[in-house]
Amino acid sequence: MAVDQRIIEMWRKRLGGVRFDPPIDYKLIFYDAIKGLAKPGYSFLDMGTGTGRVIFDNNLRDVYDTVIGVDIRPEMVTLCKEKAKGMRNVDFVVGDATKKMRMNPNTFDVISSMFGPHDPAEVSRLLSPGGYFVYIDSIRGDHKEIIKQFPELSKGIDGSPRLTTIKERNSKLKSVGMEVISTNVLSYKWIFKNDEALRQFYEKILFAPVFDGKEDRLQGLEHLIDGSIMITRRLCTTVAKKL
Ligand SMILES: C[S@@+](CC[C@H](N)C(=O)[O-])C[C@H]1O[C@@H](n2cnc3c(N)ncnc32)[C@H](O)[C@@H]1O
Repeated sequence: MAVDQRIIEMWRKRLGGVRFDPPIDYKLIFYDAIKGLAKPGYSFLDMGTGTGRVIFDNNLRDVYDTVIGVDIRPEMVTLCKEKAKGMRNVDFVVGDATKKMRMNPNTFDVISSMFGPHDPAEVSRLLSPGGYFVYIDSIRGDHKEIIKQFPELSKGIDGSPRLTTIKERNSKLKSVGMEVISTNVLSYKWIFKNDEALRQFYEKILFAPVFDGKEDRLQGLEHLIDGSIMITRRLCTTVAKKL
């Protein structure tokens, strides 16, 4: 049986098939921040834009003058460009946000990253002085029940760094000339709606890059997972200002 199936079986047994999502929307604080910071004439960049939901779900083209999304995967950029057809102030480019990109310094008034790998130094370089960076990401303690058994899982998809603490993140931002304005932690138990949702989660978010071909890591560990354990989510929205 594939590794992901084995984990799913474990959870199915222990949760007795009863799963649901708590009524918490982690996006709200993040979306409020990026919309609240908009001003006429402002330019906006979304790093690791994926399907562009940050940009499209919030109609950012109506509140920012220029809106750009960057993603390392060309297919995501193609998809977003298609969605943006006819929008004169929205564009998407391929780029690696963990490195210096081909964009001029001091270009953007607001930069966002929703679960997207990024280099704070590059964020700072691209922001105009006084500009804001808004990002949401997992922090240490996220998925702790699973990660305790399989520490490799804390190294996320796309080779992103191991989960850090708020303190570590804030000091990194400070070291690149940014002041942290606010941190907002959202912590809750995530109980999946159905088996399919659970399967998709492990396959797409945590699994693929970690357990590739290494099934034996799971052997003998099943008994360590207690029947009452749910999955803890621990996310933090950070707003920082370039000094
Ligand atoms: C977890 S998804 C988040 C997508 C989107 N921000 C959202 O919340 O729906 C991470 C995205 O970052 C992109 N990505 C991964 N590494 C990247 C990098 N080094 N530079 C830019 N984008 C990257 C991936 O292709 C993927 O679309």
